[in-house]
Amino acid sequence: MFDRAEFVRGAHQPDQFPRHTFPEVAFSGRSNVGKSSLINMLLGRKKLARISKKPGRTKSINFYRIDDRFCLVDLPGYGYAGVPAEEQEKWAYLIEDYLHHRKNLKGIIQIVDARHEPSEDDYLMMDWLASAELNFLIAATKCDKLKKSRLKPQRKMIADRMGISLEKVLLTSARKRQGKKRLETFIKEVTGI
Ligand code: GTP
Ligand code: MG
Repeated sequence: MFDRAEFVRGAHQPDQFPRHTFPEVAFSGRSNVGKSSLINMLLGRKKLARISKKPGRTKSINFYRIDDRFCLVDLPGYGYAGVPAEEQEKWAYLIEDYLHHRKNLKGIIQIVDARHEPSEDDYLMMDWLASAELNFLIAATKCDKLKKSRLKPQRKMIADRMGISLEKVLLTSARKRQGKKRLETFIKEVTGI
């Protein structure tokens, strides 16, 4: 569905955020949860957004312009213990600045691991999303790693724990390319493209 994807830039500090008027949808979640992989799945490009076995790989906020109409934004993952506290603080500041002040931001795809209970940081993010009145969707990803019989209960558990309706939780897998249509629909709706 999305044709042309271009890397705009990676921002290490707020004054490096691109000055444009494109609406943006950001991908947020714990380090290593699969944010960059979902972006690549959506764009049908294996390596546009960088993926690694090592957590904490995405260190900047990366902006991808799609079809000259909107941007997908890959946020650095939070909550990885292997990253020095000082660096984590720097990321937190960068992410907060983006989330709190970015006028272009129209929606968030919040990613959690379909196999696990949400983390403390996931709950904090959830609270913030609810209070910010932003459009959001929870993508419970890596669901290819779950037995089929576990899919429904895990989805319900995540919705219940986060205090949101089941419709807001989408089961996804970058590996199996699952959830693509619904993510595309969400992006279209919130960006108005
Ligand atoms: P950071 O940038 O470090 O915050 O990580 P990220 O959230 O962008 O995760 P990334 O997409 O780099 O994926 C992390 C690891 O999980 C990689 O080894 C991926 O191959 C793997 N992974 C991502 N999505 C899936 C999925 O849907 N299924 C499976 N089985 N593995 C996945
Ligand atoms: Mg990443």
